[in-house]
Amino acid sequence: MILTEIDHVAIAVHDLEAAIAYYEEAFGAEVHHREIVESDGVEEALVKVADSYIQLTTATRSDSPIAKYLEKRGEGLHHIGYRVDDCQAALEAMVAAGATPIDQSPRPGSRGTTVAFMHPKGSFGTLIELVQE
Ligand code: CO
Repeated sequence: MILTEIDHVAIAVHDLEAAIAYYEEAFGAEVHHREIVESDGVEEALVKVADSYIQLTTATRSDSPIAKYLEKRGEGLHHIGYRVDDCQAALEAMVAAGATPIDQSPRPGSRGTTVAFMHPKGSFGTLIELVQE
C-alpha cells in the first residue's frame, strides 16, 4: 500500500473568510496554515484534524481552475489529497493502473509539499492529488 495518510480533503468555497468563521464556530477549528498559491490561482486555509487537513480553498483570480469549478459546479468537495512517500513512484503506479495524469511529473504544492494531480476521468470520478511531504 503506497498511501500513508489522507493528506487533505479540499473544499471549494466562494468566501474563504466566511468558511473559516463557520468552521471556527461549528467545530472550534483553528487555521493551522494559510497560503496563496499564485501559480494555481488559489488561496487555502488548512484546518488540521489529527494528521490530516481540511483544506478550504477559494480562487484568487477569475481564470484559475478553482474559479471555473465554482462557476460551473458551485461550492463543495473539490479533490482529495492522498499522502505518499514518493510522489513520482505513486504517479507512475497510478498511470500503470490506467489513471490520466494532469501533471506529467511532480511539482511544488502548498506547505512545501511535492504534488501531482490526476484527472477524475480514469479515477472513478474523483480528482486525486498525490502529496509528498
Ligand atoms: Co490539494
